Amino acid sequence: MSQEALFPKNFLFGGALAGNQYEGGFDKDGKGLSIVDVEPAGPERSQMLAHPKNYLNIRDDLYYPSHKAIEFYDHYKEDIRLFGEMHFSALRISVNWARIFPNGDEETPNEAGLEFYDQVFDELEKYQIEPVVTISHYETPLGLVKKYGGWNNRKLIDFYLRYAETLFKRYGSRVKYWMSFNEINCITGSPFIAGALVLDDVPNKIQAIYQASHYELVASAKATKLLHKLVPGAQMGCMLAFSPFYAKTCRPEDQIAALQQNRVTLFYGDVHSRGYYPTYMNRFFKENNVELEITDEDRKVLKENTVDYISFSYYMSHTTDADHKSKLASEAFEPVKNPYIEESDWGWPIDPVGLRYSLNLLYERYQKPLFIVENGLGARDDIESDGSINDDYRINYLNDHLVQVAEAIKDGVDLIGYTTWGPIDVVSAGTGEMEKRYGFIYVDRDNKGNGTLERRKKKSFDWYRDVIDSKGAVL
Ligand code: BG6
Repeated sequence: MSQEALFPKNFLFGGALAGNQYEGGFDKDGKGLSIVDVEPAGPERSQMLAHPKNYLNIRDDLYYPSHKAIEFYDHYKEDIRLFGEMHFSALRISVNWARIFPNGDEETPNEAGLEFYDQVFDELEKYQIEPVVTISHYETPLGLVKKYGGWNNRKLIDFYLRYAETLFKRYGSRVKYWMSFNEINCITGSPFIAGALVLDDVPNKIQAIYQASHYELVASAKATKLLHKLVPGAQMGCMLAFSPFYAKTCRPEDQIAALQQNRVTLFYGDVHSRGYYPTYMNRFFKENNVELEITDEDRKVLKENTVDYISFSYYMSHTTDADHKSKLASEAFEPVKNPYIEESDWGWPIDPVGLRYSLNLLYERYQKPLFIVENGLGARDDIESDGSINDDYRINYLNDHLVQVAEAIKDGVDLIGYTTWGPIDVVSAGTGEMEKRYGFIYVDRDNKGNGTLERRKKKSFDWYRDVIDSKGAVL
C-alpha cells in the first residue's frame, strides 16, 4: 500500500466499452447491420475474419454474439447505476454507427438511435460520470462494405463526416473527449474489423490496407476540424492499440527489428499527431509496391488538424528479433517468447512495466496528453458455492499496472485518465466469447448466448471503488 494518493484530483477513472460488445438489440429501433453483426462465434469466426467474402449475410446455422451481447440496450439503467456505485468519473462508450445511419449512406439520421444515446448520457449525468466517446469502434455499417467496398473507398470519408457532425451537434454540449477510430492501427492485422475491408481477392493487400488507412486518417483530421469548429473546448484523440516491441537481445539487428515493428503502430500516431507521413514509410511503400492516392488537399487537412491527445489500449508487450519481424502487425506474426514475463490464459503476455515504458515512449514522442482507454485481464471466472467470485488474479493484474501508471506520472507523463476494458463482462472482440471476462461485474451469459443475464459483483468491484476513492493510495 502506498498510503498516499498517486493520481491527481481531476484524474478520470472508470471503464471502457464498445456498443457492439455490450448493447445487443442489433436490429432494434431501426438499427442497421454493422460489420460485427456478421462475425460469428465459434471456430468459424477466425475463418470469417480472414476470408469475409462469403460471410456477409446472416446465416441461420451460426451464432452471432453481437446480436444480444449483454443486452445493455435494455439494462443500461441498472448497469450505469453499478458504475456509479464504483464511483466512476468517466465511462468510455462508442456510438454504434448503424444505429444512427443504418446503411451508412442515408442523408438523415435515425432519430430513435440518437434518442437511445440521449438516455444513456442522461443516466451518466445522474452519477456524474463523464462520457468519453469513440466515434467508430469496429462498427462500420455493413451497407458501406457491400455498396462501397469499405474504407478503400474515398466516399467513406464523407459518410463518416456526416455521421460525426450528427454526433457533435447532438451531443457536443455533453461530451468533451472524443476519439475518431478505435485502435486505428489494427487495420494492418485485422483489415475487416478495423477497415471494413474484404480482401479475399486482392493481390496487393498492403496497398489496400494503407490506402484505407489514409482515408481513415483524412476522415479523422476532417472530423477534428469539424469538432473544433462546432464544439469549442472539445478534444479529439487518436486511439492506438499499443503493444511495444522489445528486442530479444542486444544484437543490433534485433534492435532494428524492434524499431521497425514499433513503427507499424507508431505510423498512425505520427500522422495523427504531427500531421504528415514520416519518411520511414517511403522505403516501406517502395519495397511493397504501394502507391497511395494522396491529394494536396489531404496533406493540408492532415497538417492543419492534428489531434489534441493520444489515447491507447495497453494489454501486453511483444518481443521480436531479426528472424521474426513481420511486415504487418499480426500477419504471420510469430511471437518470440519473453522469458521475464508470464502470460494470460489466452496467451497474452502480462507486462505491467511495459505500460510505464509505453507511457514514457509515447509522451516523449508526441508531447501531448495521453489517455489510457483500455487495460485489463481477460480471464475465466468461477462462481463459488456461496455466490462470490474471487477474482484476485484480476485485482493483481490491475494493481500492478496502476502502480506502473503512477510511476510514469512521476516520470513526468501528462495523463488524462485510465479506463479499464470491459468493467462489466462483454463479448470478446477477438474471439466472440463471453467467457473471456474482464469485468468487475459478472454477467450470467455463456458463449452460446444462454444465461439469465443476472449481474453479480465480483471481488474486484469493491477493490476498484477503493482505488478510485483513494486516488490510488490503496495500491
Ligand atoms: C481491444 C478492443 O483490442 O481489446 C476491444 O478495442 C477488445 O474492442 C479488447 O474487446 C480486448 O480484446 P478481446 O479480444 O479480449 O475482446
